Amino acid sequence: MKYLAGQYLTLQFRINGRRYVRPYSFSSAPGIDSTLDVTVRRVPGGIVSNYINDFIKADDVIEVQEPIGDFVFESDESTKTVVFWGVGSGITPLFSMIKHLLFAESLIKIHLVYGNKSKKSIIFHHELEKIKLAYPERFKVYYFYSKEVFFDDESHNFTGRINSIFVQELMQKIEHPVKHYVCGPIGLKNTIKESLLECEGHLKNLFSEDFEIVKNPEDFKDIFDQEIRLDFQGIENKITINKGNSILEEALELGIELPYSCQTGNCSTCKGRLLSGKMRMIGLEKPRTDLTENEYLLCCSYPLTDNVYVEI
Ligand SMILES: Cc1cc2nc3c(=O)[nH]c(=O)nc-3n(C[C@H](O)[C@H](O)[C@H](O)COP(=O)(O)OP(=O)(O)OC[C@H]3O[C@@H](n4cnc5c(N)ncnc54)[C@H](O)[C@@H]3O)c2cc1C
Ligand code: FES
Repeated sequence: MKYLAGQYLTLQFRINGRRYVRPYSFSSAPGIDSTLDVTVRRVPGGIVSNYINDFIKADDVIEVQEPIGDFVFESDESTKTVVFWGVGSGITPLFSMIKHLLFAESLIKIHLVYGNKSKKSIIFHHELEKIKLAYPERFKVYYFYSKEVFFDDESHNFTGRINSIFVQELMQKIEHPVKHYVCGPIGLKNTIKESLLECEGHLKNLFSEDFEIVKNPEDFKDIFDQEIRLDFQGIENKITINKGNSILEEALELGIELPYSCQTGNCSTCKGRLLSGKMRMIGLEKPRTDLTENEYLLCCSYPLTDNVYVEI
């Protein structure tokens, strides 16, 4: 299977009769690891992450979609340093990219700033320490612990969350030009964005991956329950979209197995065409200039009028 460091694999399961599709970033790196690895952290109450942790065992066969994702390192002559910013399971694509860069880009220095609740909860702690020893001149790790107190800042352990003072101090210490890769909750992304804007004045070297869509309740003020017509594989379905649910979420609830993967508006697997009425996409983190006027990502689409007719 061909993939790039930083991309993800979409796993498909049938649980209690319903099809569930979830993307998981590769934690292995192509050409370096002999196995194809994904790393799944339990989300409290989450259907698939708990199913995988509780029931999946060696030799099980899992249906997957082909690897996709644009959270990858694009090689260029000028980059001197890459900083990876991660929290919790956000380490997975970063870990893959770190291994790839250390192996394939011999001149680039790498810094990983990695937030966790405690030392015990760090995914890949042992592996990261081993890589640190193997590349002492090129790879530095800074651990932040939000629920544990450390006093040894000298050894790159910090108490609290990754913060703007740290970002700005690090930016003064490292060789530029720098590229930044962020994977973690919205709070982390905002901290990095704001700090870089302050010290760099732009965000053109910042790349991020979202594991979850963030919805702002303000965006739903003029959205109400609406009945829509949804044409899927030539069959017309009349379904009610309850306020707050996307067209994809509601269709899946009703057993209409629309295609999807990321559910964050990045992959286009759920792209549909609006034939009548008005819809709005909510929660898109990256601008999607590739969509035509009538094309909508149904994982982020909400009907605004009572005459919406969509086909996929
Ligand atoms: C591109 C991409 C790559 C990803 N890579 C990884 C990975 O490498 N490792 C990994 O463990 N996960 C990864 N995820 C998240 C993963 O796809 C699932 O969303 C996650 O495992 C939860 O699925 P679930 O079925 O257990 O939870 P669901 O049943 O879908 O959700 C249950 C509840 O948890 C909330 N929730 C959903 N996802 C998260 C989350 N990530 N953190 C906190 N709360 C959440 C939901 O809002 C919901 O309220 C990735 C997501 C994307 C979009
Ligand atoms: S499922 Fe990826 S864009 Fe909608």
